[in-house]
Amino acid sequence: MYILGIETSCDETSSSVIDDKLNIISNIVFSQQKVHLPYFGVVPELASRTHYEKIHFVIAKTLKSISIKKVKLITYTQYPGLKGALLIGKTVAETLGYIYHIPVKGVDHLLGHIHSLILTHKNKIKYPFISLIISGGHTELSIVESPLQRKILGNTRDDAVGESFDKVAKMLNLSYPGGPVIEKLAKMCKDKELINFPRPYMLDTWDFSFSGIKTAVLYYIKSLLQRQKSLTQQQVKLICKSFQEAIIDTLIHKVLYAVEKLNCRRVGISGGVSANNSLREKFINTAGKTNFEIFFPEHSLTTDNAAMIASIGLFLYREEKKRNIQ
Ligand code: KG4
Ligand code: ZN
Repeated sequence: MYILGIETSCDETSSSVIDDKLNIISNIVFSQQKVHLPYFGVVPELASRTHYEKIHFVIAKTLKSISIKKVKLITYTQYPGLKGALLIGKTVAETLGYIYHIPVKGVDHLLGHIHSLILTHKNKIKYPFISLIISGGHTELSIVESPLQRKILGNTRDDAVGESFDKVAKMLNLSYPGGPVIEKLAKMCKDKELINFPRPYMLDTWDFSFSGIKTAVLYYIKSLLQRQKSLTQQQVKLICKSFQEAIIDTLIHKVLYAVEKLNCRRVGISGGVSANNSLREKFINTAGKTNFEIFFPEHSLTTDNAAMIASIGLFLYREEKKRNIQ
């Protein structure tokens, strides 16, 4: 028995088949990065058009070794995301369901990111756990009570973590998406003393705010450019490292606070920014020192993909089956 997942919420066109044991049989991801690169961000209309052009090939490739007749449920990303982009996934999912008489369900993309942890760690991850989603569009802190239920505690009030990486990269004339290139340059930084960018811990709320760090970087760059024509490579590396550290410190502080306050010693971190190795190392270090378990998705599942959407489908299917037996 298989579940087919379809993901088109932003700039990845993806479809995936998983089996009833959460094994990924196929997970095809067409990244639109090259399409959006000249604009330093995702252009919604271009995203929709590219999904429209690519989705058929992506699904055909996914179903190469599997008969669609063995698919028991199709899940697609229903929200949140770019309206036109989401519409492509929904239309394709419902058309396939109609032709092959397969039930179709729309699901929450953010729950999908949490499922990238469930797919990676299967039953090694116990409930409840604290979830931190750090992606290009969202920053969400929640308590995951079961594979289909979570209580949302806080979100970002302005920029998402990934978005601030992308915007800082743009300020530094680096490429898009900003996260991987900032991580690479930060690693090359040799300075011992970093720039002290603000850490908005905001411990009176579960929400986050990252626009202040971003603005501090902007003013720092402007102050340098009053004295010199352009930034040196060393300055760019130092800014990348200092910015990255400010973000990581802010996230660690909030997660540590949540661990103590909620008395929950399991934490799962997912979303595109969770690919950052420096962030992973620092979290693993903190978890070791303060005694909580920490989970990350395997690297291929950090950015948007349809396997995490299919994983939600498997739990929905099991729940439905249980209901029919009772
Ligand atoms: O989860 P994702 O694919 O998209 C959304 O659902 O929004 O995340 C994309 C984001 C981008 O902002 C990108 O800059 C960031 O993840 N990202 C990283 C890294 N790799 C991707 N940020 C920091 N370090 C990385 N290594
Ligand atoms: Zn995402």
